[in-house]
Amino acid sequence: MDVDPADYRRINLANWNSRVPHHEIGYALHEHRDDPTHLSGVVRFDRPRLGDIVGLEGVHLQCHIGTDTISLARLGASMCGLDLSPASVEAARALARELGHDIAFVEADVSDAVAALGAGRFDFVYTGIGALCWIPDVRRWAQVVAALLRPGGRLFIRDGHPALYMLSDPRPDGLITVQFPYFESEGTRYREESTYEGDGTAVASPDMVFFNHGIAEMLDAIRAAGLGLESFEEHESVPWNPLGDACERFGELGEWRMRAGMPRIPMSFTLRARRPG
Ligand SMILES: C[S@@+](CC[C@H](N)C(=O)[O-])C[C@H]1O[C@@H](n2cnc3c(N)ncnc32)[C@H](O)[C@@H]1O
Repeated sequence: MDVDPADYRRINLANWNSRVPHHEIGYALHEHRDDPTHLSGVVRFDRPRLGDIVGLEGVHLQCHIGTDTISLARLGASMCGLDLSPASVEAARALARELGHDIAFVEADVSDAVAALGAGRFDFVYTGIGALCWIPDVRRWAQVVAALLRPGGRLFIRDGHPALYMLSDPRPDGLITVQFPYFESEGTRYREESTYEGDGTAVASPDMVFFNHGIAEMLDAIRAAGLGLESFEEHESVPWNPLGDACERFGELGEWRMRAGMPRIPMSFTLRARRPG
């Protein structure tokens, strides 16, 4: 592929802009429209771990088209969202407006979030489910998160597990191989002609650059940013199908895990941390 990983921001921005029209269909927005209490599956999974967020001021980093942001607002938080992709931000604004939610959606790179939103402003930072893999430097990211939080404020992230992100798609014979780095690296170039939650049709900008971060790298970044780790859990499922026929749906939320008979692997994690004070 003829893309330079150093140009990751431009490449990923084009990729995410091009996914939006597909996701506006695939994300089942009618469920949010039909039922004013509806919550995204992602937020429903998180709910028992989120605690009471009524009246809290929160920011959703990498909010995409806003379905999780709106769900957090429906749980009583005063929300804003931030995303790199103008098409995502436009779609999120339109959906929130239509559903009667007063949510500010800001277009910015996460690395510029403090300048875009203000320091020490939030009771919680929420992010995940396909967020950290677009961030080249997890230490820098944790510094940004810490700076956004008020003293006593919390980080909540559930995201894809770095062990999952090492794996290839299954080969025709079903074998899954270790294809990508576990540790943070200069970025991996990848091309995906269609998108998850799409109808299989081609996206206009299929190239992307993604980054993995090992667990110790993430935990060290949290510590170095001055955040106290409150919990770290590993889960055997994710909301999208990451490994094709090797996976099956399970549970009330219809998440994906390894098919019966295959080894169970960690597919996602939840990390909660707190700024002291
Ligand atoms: C998979 S979505 C995550 C959001 C949420 N889980 C969802 O599915 O609605 C990834 C989002 O990250 C955004 N993104 C990627 N790199 C970014 C960056 N450097 N700064 C801000 N947003 C970024 C993309 O534009 C995209 O909307």
